[in-house]
Amino acid sequence: MSATESADPNRRDFLYIATGAAGAVGVAGLAWPFIDQMRPDASTLALATIEVDVSAIEPGMSVTAKWRGKPVFIRNRTNEEVEAAKAVKLDELKDPVARNANIGADAPATDIDRSAGEGKENWIVMIGSCTHLGCVPLGQQGDFGGWFCPCHGSHYDTAGRIRKGPAPENLAVPVFEFLSDTKIKIG
Ligand code: FES
Repeated sequence: MSATESADPNRRDFLYIATGAAGAVGVAGLAWPFIDQMRPDASTLALATIEVDVSAIEPGMSVTAKWRGKPVFIRNRTNEEVEAAKAVKLDELKDPVARNANIGADAPATDIDRSAGEGKENWIVMIGSCTHLGCVPLGQQGDFGGWFCPCHGSHYDTAGRIRKGPAPENLAVPVFEFLSDTKIKIG
């Protein structure tokens, strides 16, 4: 091997390392603006939680709020609606899981575990997206007096539990809490 030949690999190695380092800087320089753009801006953060004044929602009425781009049903159930939901036995349910983000994943779909809990059982808060293919169900309708999804005929009861039709799961309950007797924070 000549002196010239032995020098070439070293030179190539140097060029390779130098090119690699320059490439890395270039990638970092390009990546930063993308990462920076992925940070949520103030308006997105503001929508991460919403507060809803429920003082005007009388028993039997509901409102639909918008949270993270999704409809959220907030319903003040009548005593009759609560009693009807309580009377349902778990083995009658198609989906016996509460689907309530505020409690354990395995909690049973009893009415108390679907609602806002002790003392506030009349309130139910759910994401208004049918668990079949995502249509928005209609309130106070269907065979069980809860919600009815007209897209393919799913019937939910007054606790938002799927009772009939193709939807596989109960309507999901998002994270929420009562900040006062008249204000709910969702998210
Ligand atoms: S999307 Fe609701 S039944 Fe199909």
